Amino acid sequence: MKILVTGANGFTGMHLCINLVNKGFDVFALGRGDRKLPILDGLFYYSVELTSVRTLLKIFDQVSPDVVIHTAAMSKPDICDLNREDCLLNNVEVTRYLLEASRHFPVHFIYLSTDFIFGENGPHKEEDTPGPLNFYGESKLQAEKLILQTELTTTIIRPVFIYGPVIPQIRPSFIQWVQQKLLKGEQIKVVTDQLRTPTYVMDLCDAIATILIFQKIGIYHIAGKDILSPYEMAITVAKVLDLDAELIKPVTSETFPEPVRRAKKSGLYIDKAIRELNYTPHSFEDAVKLSFLKR
Ligand SMILES: NC(=O)c1ccc[n+]([C@@H]2O[C@H](COP(=O)([O-])OP(=O)(O)OC[C@H]3O[C@@H](n4cnc5c(N)ncnc54)[C@H](OP(=O)(O)O)[C@@H]3O)[C@@H](O)[C@H]2O)c1
Repeated sequence: MKILVTGANGFTGMHLCINLVNKGFDVFALGRGDRKLPILDGLFYYSVELTSVRTLLKIFDQVSPDVVIHTAAMSKPDICDLNREDCLLNNVEVTRYLLEASRHFPVHFIYLSTDFIFGENGPHKEEDTPGPLNFYGESKLQAEKLILQTELTTTIIRPVFIYGPVIPQIRPSFIQWVQQKLLKGEQIKVVTDQLRTPTYVMDLCDAIATILIFQKIGIYHIAGKDILSPYEMAITVAKVLDLDAELIKPVTSETFPEPVRRAKKSGLYIDKAIRELNYTPHSFEDAVKLSFLKR
């Protein structure tokens, strides 16, 4: 099976490419700029600007993919809000171009969306009514609508607050930020009044593999099983790494007036994934332990 992955230099994309190659798939990784992925058998890298339709069509012709996993996005809500046209181009139009390029092949198109398509009152189920609170969420919802309109075989996956191990050249996730600050003895302020169901990237990759192997279609919430605030997550990191938890100061969102709105109570229910994909996510504490294991 030939799998084309976009966003291959991003946090999720890099993990996903390596995870799928390790499972024996041929992976065609599309990333912006120079290759950050290691050299592995079955892993082919293309430096691509996804807004170039002509380049996309050429790559699809060369690769003839069976599965497309679209993880690329302008993924920072604050930046999306300040650069709305760019956000629409990268998050909505690029999705349209990829769907168009996929039309000529019988592909299974898998789209990575987000819990940000919802508003308050989480955790949310797959069928809950969307109501994004910021422009990033709005753009991801518009892309979801394109996915739902196409005649291709499609799956929408919604993760939440993705974290996991670092690999060479990857950007750090929240847990490494906490680790680095505490190692330097710096005090950090972390919010107590936002609730999330953080997603361990390895659980996400395994769920995506199940989805593509068994051609599961529709919408799946793929998140963690624990409902935690960033403060609780930071305390767990300190505990697991035996670092000074006294440096972590609990604050409310009012301490950091954010440029865009974020839900206080977000998070996603994962019952459908547990039932239909046999999804068995790690606890947050176990996943943090695994993320910092020396390899
Ligand atoms: N991280 C989370 O907590 C989270 C939670 C829920 C859902 N998601 C969704 O999951 C997906 C992966 O998230 P992530 O945090 O792993 O993302 P990320 O680290 O920000 O990586 C996204 C990648 O997409 C690339 N990209 C964006 N526009 C592109 C374009 N026009 N052409 C080529 N490459 C382009 C970016 O390149 P540059 O770096 O060069 O810009 C970046 O490497 C996204 O769709 C996001 O919306 C993420």
